[in-house]
Amino acid sequence: MLAGKHILLIIGGGIAAYKALELIRRLQDQGASVAPVLTRAGEEFVTPLSVSALAGAPVHRDLFDLTSEAEMGHIQLSRSADLVVVAPATADLMAKMAQGLANDLASTLLLATDTPVLLAPAMNVRMWEHPATQRNIQVLKGDGIRFAGPNEGGMACGEFGPGRMAEPDEIVAAIAAQFRSGPLIGKRIVVTSGPTHEPIDPVRYIANRSSGAQGTAVARALSALGAEVVFITGPATVWPPDGVEVVPVESARDMQAAVEAALPADAAVFAAAVADWRVASASDRKLKKSKDGLPTLEFAENPDILKTVSHMESGRPGLVVGFAAETNDVLENATAKRLRKGCDWIVANDVSPATGIMGGSENAVTLISEDGAEDWPRMGKDEVARRLAERIATALAD
Ligand code: C5P
Repeated sequence: MLAGKHILLIIGGGIAAYKALELIRRLQDQGASVAPVLTRAGEEFVTPLSVSALAGAPVHRDLFDLTSEAEMGHIQLSRSADLVVVAPATADLMAKMAQGLANDLASTLLLATDTPVLLAPAMNVRMWEHPATQRNIQVLKGDGIRFAGPNEGGMACGEFGPGRMAEPDEIVAAIAAQFRSGPLIGKRIVVTSGPTHEPIDPVRYIANRSSGAQGTAVARALSALGAEVVFITGPATVWPPDGVEVVPVESARDMQAAVEAALPADAAVFAAAVADWRVASASDRKLKKSKDGLPTLEFAENPDILKTVSHMESGRPGLVVGFAAETNDVLENATAKRLRKGCDWIVANDVSPATGIMGGSENAVTLISEDGAEDWPRMGKDEVARRLAERIATALAD
């Protein structure tokens, strides 16, 4: 996802600096190379040795480091990257940036750079909320600086509120977003995928055979066209795609809550195989064998997420796409399903065992909309996803 990208990572002085080490790893996993810069205060929290060992590159620490000037001056260093990331970005560093100060290596690089800059702020909640910091943020946003986080939560200092640095995964997703291009740029799309697990007791559950392959391919294809994708996945057997926000869930009710939290969105694609029923009162203890006979499970209906979202009175995504896995009378059943669920499109397929589609790598779908039904030839699930993503891009552009 970040193959060949060169990131200049400035690590400021804050307890969250330890997460910068993990960030280096995650960036490398995505194919990026990292040139690290450690501020004096940053050195109090992580050592230059750990940073350079993880980055596999020398750590830059001093503005007046002559060796470094001979090899690469600070101007060149500031411009050699595709993106400058500051994590953690302290209140002090942000104040310097807003003022245009350049009295150490980090602030000088930030003033000299002509590459986009992304900040992951981290500070105590009072410092974050202070009018001076808020003023600086507005100035920096006006200068075109982008932000990842901060999050709200408990802090190392014991207080609670906004100011926690975004997690490495979230920063990687924000970095990936900087490099996106395509017709879906600026569009937010929610994708559900995989099966759900409905608990019987703490160790047993009811599941289905969905691998999550088609939903994963759809998320990847939408992301490749530039969309910001929130990928809400049950326990699938395939790996989630890179460059999307992954929200792992277990049950249908978890999935519904995650979808609601992810809205508003420009479009939503419901590719998950959601269990229709759950065990009405799942036991909080493991059910035991008993002389009194076999346990009886009572079922309750799960929320229909697709139907609920399709019928939202306010905040309904502009385009809602459902999937229909049928074993007979595909066209008839799926056409009726589109009307019953209230969604805009249904991607219907025949999952009878003879087709080998469920769990396989190919799919043969029919796209049903208010304009009618369109049969697509049998093709790889990735190709179905690419075609669908292109159709979604065309629909959202109208
Ligand atoms: O009703 P059926 O399960 O066949 O409908 C399939 C479509 O509805 C899929 O898009 C699936 O993701 C969605 N669905 C849902 N919530 C449910 C059941 C299905 O979002 N509880």
